[in-house]
Amino acid sequence: MTFRAQHLLGIEPLHPTEITALLDLSDRYAEENRRGVRHKDVLAGLTQINMFFENSTRTQASFELAGKRLGADVMNMSMGQTSLKKGETLIDTALTLNAMHPDLLVVRHPNSGAVDLLAQKVNCAVLNAGDGRHEHPTQALLDALTIRRAKGRLHRLSIAICGDIAHSRVARSNITLLGKMENRIRLIAPPTLMPAGIAEFGCEVFDDMEKGLEGVDVVMMLRLQKERMDGGFIPSEREYFHRYGLDANKLKFAKPDAIVMHPGPMNRGVEIDGVIADDINRSVIQTQVEMGVAVRMAAMDLLARNLRERRVDNRPVLV
Ligand code: CP
Repeated sequence: MTFRAQHLLGIEPLHPTEITALLDLSDRYAEENRRGVRHKDVLAGLTQINMFFENSTRTQASFELAGKRLGADVMNMSMGQTSLKKGETLIDTALTLNAMHPDLLVVRHPNSGAVDLLAQKVNCAVLNAGDGRHEHPTQALLDALTIRRAKGRLHRLSIAICGDIAHSRVARSNITLLGKMENRIRLIAPPTLMPAGIAEFGCEVFDDMEKGLEGVDVVMMLRLQKERMDGGFIPSEREYFHRYGLDANKLKFAKPDAIVMHPGPMNRGVEIDGVIADDINRSVIQTQVEMGVAVRMAAMDLLARNLRERRVDNRPVLV
């Protein structure tokens, strides 16, 4: 198995063979989850702590389920009720938890880079569950698995990522992963929501949905991240939906068998028409949620194997 990482902090450090290894194992877990097969032995004896400093439904629930299906002891910290409220820093919180010898730490934080910083202070494996606008690696991996299962491959596809690119860690991780796997990436957004210099990542840039969607295999819509906006990025939600919201008329420009994706949570009627989101012939949004559990099982399984190996290598020599 080619996956040597100590932490999963982002897609950037991963080699394509590591991505493929992770997706192959995720595929196995996805099939076994459907059959109700459980693997309580994989993380047996290990402690997983989930620390979410930002709201989450899908990521937190699926990391918890993934850990429990693999037999870990899972603890969800209620971050609003910790001593952070009394002024304790993130690093002191991490050191405090580290002293309790966890094995897997799953962290979501509103600040870009906070999870990397925390990983430098602890002995366990750290998984980034989303940090600011930086990375959301397990989201990109579950998106990749969903695409690979729907299209039968994860290379030489034309993939449109549409909407609020500027504030999106999902876009950033997906651009990195899909680029590493040699896909053609088109970014479609109003100029106010397109980060400067993004074309350097090898993407084609559009501000018109119909032109950008022409002949694509995959349409990935993004949420308008109002919580990260401090000014007028769009004239109005109504106008935004008219120009950039995915509806049946715009989807006609993609290939007839193009799939529609959205990481959730969705703003129906803002970035996507509810009818398209619920169309089981086009939308794979619920499959993305399903693959989220499998990918997080695979990620924790592989990191735990590496953690156990490191601990064996570092054990004291008895004389
Ligand atoms: N896609 C995603 O990260 O969703 P949550 O915020 O619900 O975890």
